[in-house]
Amino acid sequence: MIVSLIFCIFPMTTMTSPASAHPCRCTVHSTEGFTVNCSSSKLSSIPYLTPDTTELHLSNTGLSTVPPGLFDKLVGLKKLSLTGNPFHCDCRIQYLRNWLLKNKYVVTKEPTCASPNLVTQKPISELSDEFFTSCLKPSCTNWIYLIIIGMLFCV
Ligand SMILES: *[C@@H]1O[C@H](CO)[C@@H](O)[C@H](O)[C@H]1NC(C)=O
Repeated sequence: MIVSLIFCIFPMTTMTSPASAHPCRCTVHSTEGFTVNCSSSKLSSIPYLTPDTTELHLSNTGLSTVPPGLFDKLVGLKKLSLTGNPFHCDCRIQYLRNWLLKNKYVVTKEPTCASPNLVTQKPISELSDEFFTSCLKPSCTNWIYLIIIGMLFCV
């Protein structure tokens, strides 16, 4: 708990640099864990999050994507807010979408895509598997395509 407390304070102190006007606030719940509130701060990067985080507020932080694996270690997370962010829904959003499907009841309100136009306002968890098919090993599919073209030429 003491170690976690240090980590809990750490993002707060790093975020109080002059570059960011509004730091993340970290509140300790003696038995339940920590609340990390970064809402309404413009985050250039996501601060270190202790695995003891039970509540995480990332609304209106200007996030356009979530780095793969970000929430994986937060196994005690009970509440997460992500709304008001300009999420760009391309291959990089796949991690968040898969995580949301498995953790439906953790998010306070469904985050939506802000761009591209095709999926504007669409809840991220409702992006279909088809939406992400082009993300699967593009170099491999390119090879298959080249082989097929090559075979057509031979014929
Ligand atoms: C988080 O911080 C913002 C900005 O200071 C505040 O408006 C909001 O109420 C806080 N949210 C929670 C859940 O503490």
